Amino acid sequence: MLLDLILKKYPAQEDSLIEILLEFQNAKSSHYISEAEINQIALYLNISEAKVCSVISFYTFFRTEQKGQHIIQVCRGVPCHVVAGINVLKVIEKELGIKIDETTADKKFSLEYTSCLGLCDKGPVMRVNDKVYTNLTENKIRAILTEYMVHN
Ligand code: FES
Repeated sequence: MLLDLILKKYPAQEDSLIEILLEFQNAKSSHYISEAEINQIALYLNISEAKVCSVISFYTFFRTEQKGQHIIQVCRGVPCHVVAGINVLKVIEKELGIKIDETTADKKFSLEYTSCLGLCDKGPVMRVNDKVYTNLTENKIRAILTEYMVHN
């Protein structure tokens, strides 16, 4: 099981918690950490579930609800909006029929905001899973979404 394999890589001490959570969430296809998994991590590290939950809720990038197969993050930084002749979020919302923080019915896509991705001079910017897309236009966004719909 994925979590077992990841836990074995880390010393069973509290200092490992964030690295375990990060690696596991990134590796898990549904990109979230369930209650049972929180329990397993707490047991392994010999800390309380409350401690694990407090770390998860402190960092906004950790998720405890099931998300779509592909997580689209739209940069909410001001520079991206200044250069944008388009509203990236509106284009995606229209294409997928979901709003921010929602997941499509087929669990294929979730839509989120993200803070600056460090590519402000190439905005507008969005990330899909681990891949960052720059200089977005409406056509480019549609092509990217189509690619994920068809090939992933
Ligand atoms: S503001 Fe969007 S990448 Fe920096």
